[in-house]
Amino acid sequence: MKKKLLSVLLTTAMVASMLVGCGSSQGAAESTSTDTQEAAPAEDTSSETSDAADTTSGGGKVGVAMPTKDLQRWNQDGSNMEAQLKDAGYEVDLQYASNDIPTQVSQIENMINSGCELLVIASIDGDSLGTVLEQAKEKNIPVIAYDRLIMNSDAVTYYATFDNYMVGTKQGEYIRDQLDLDNADGPFNIELVTGDPGDNNARFFFGGAMDVLQPYIDAGKLVVKSGQTDFETVATANWSTETAQSRMDAIISANYADGTKLDAVLCSNDSTALGVTNSLEANYTGEWPIITGQDCDIANVKNMIAGKQSMSIFKDTRTLASKVVEMVDAVMKGGEAPVNDTETYDNGTGVIPSYLCEPVFADASNYKELLVDSGYYTEADLQ
Ligand code: BGC
Repeated sequence: MKKKLLSVLLTTAMVASMLVGCGSSQGAAESTSTDTQEAAPAEDTSSETSDAADTTSGGGKVGVAMPTKDLQRWNQDGSNMEAQLKDAGYEVDLQYASNDIPTQVSQIENMINSGCELLVIASIDGDSLGTVLEQAKEKNIPVIAYDRLIMNSDAVTYYATFDNYMVGTKQGEYIRDQLDLDNADGPFNIELVTGDPGDNNARFFFGGAMDVLQPYIDAGKLVVKSGQTDFETVATANWSTETAQSRMDAIISANYADGTKLDAVLCSNDSTALGVTNSLEANYTGEWPIITGQDCDIANVKNMIAGKQSMSIFKDTRTLASKVVEMVDAVMKGGEAPVNDTETYDNGTGVIPSYLCEPVFADASNYKELLVDSGYYTEADLQ
């Protein structure tokens, strides 16, 4: 019975996802944010603005808090969430916080005080929302953690994300297979770059990849010449491209300036991969290494096509948005949200029932089918 329900829900989500995919001819070029705090990114050419009061049905008001417009994916997450929630008859208060924690806290406070009946939050720092969410709990406002888990707060009702550990294992397996670590003699040189230490996801990405790669490091087949291997050292504050780039500059000048070959760089996502690529272009003269990534941001897809980044992970924000809209709808109607994982994500107050969407491997050979044919990007976006 449960299985049947889940498959009905999944089918609904897929149809919703396809409809949005077909309806959105501009793909990434579309943004419908209500945000007034941050300038739109260069890709954002839409003049459409969102009007929270323009919904026709009285489904209730939902607050959607996103971390930043600086990274392409959050623009897509926000606009997909907003469009799909509106289609489902909800009023939407969508906010971006410029990666500034106090801004996000006050945006959430405003949502709570302005009549939002449910909050969907992609946190900047998973540990910084406990106090403001106590207010949500007092008012019985359910909270869905979006993509990033909110830690140490018992106000979190559900979590919706992609399988973050699987993202990491796909990156690690790619490096393992490309270097043929089980057969080749090696040793091969690798460097490691992960994400923000305040983002719970970063530990899952890095953990998943290192569960694949660590045995080869232990066996001496993979060598990290910089010696930088622990999570805190290889973390990148705010997932910043510039921070990843300057750390890579230092690593190259200390370890690879003499012509030593760098075989692979594990990058947990595309913004860090971009920093590493920029650094290599400026400082490294050897044979180009394998570089991993995640998100299929436009700049990175272009780099994959140009042979500068080896792979990325596609996390279709339309799929996540559809799933979250389903969850919102179920909770707003007094029911329980669909989940498929009740074991993995303990936020310090207990396991948060989660829905994990599946991440998909992407590279230069399949990007067209995944990204262009599905309407996520247009060909023009990638030129
Ligand atoms: C997301 C990634 C993203 C990163 C930086 C993570 O929480 O899961 O998709 O690349 O944040 O924004």
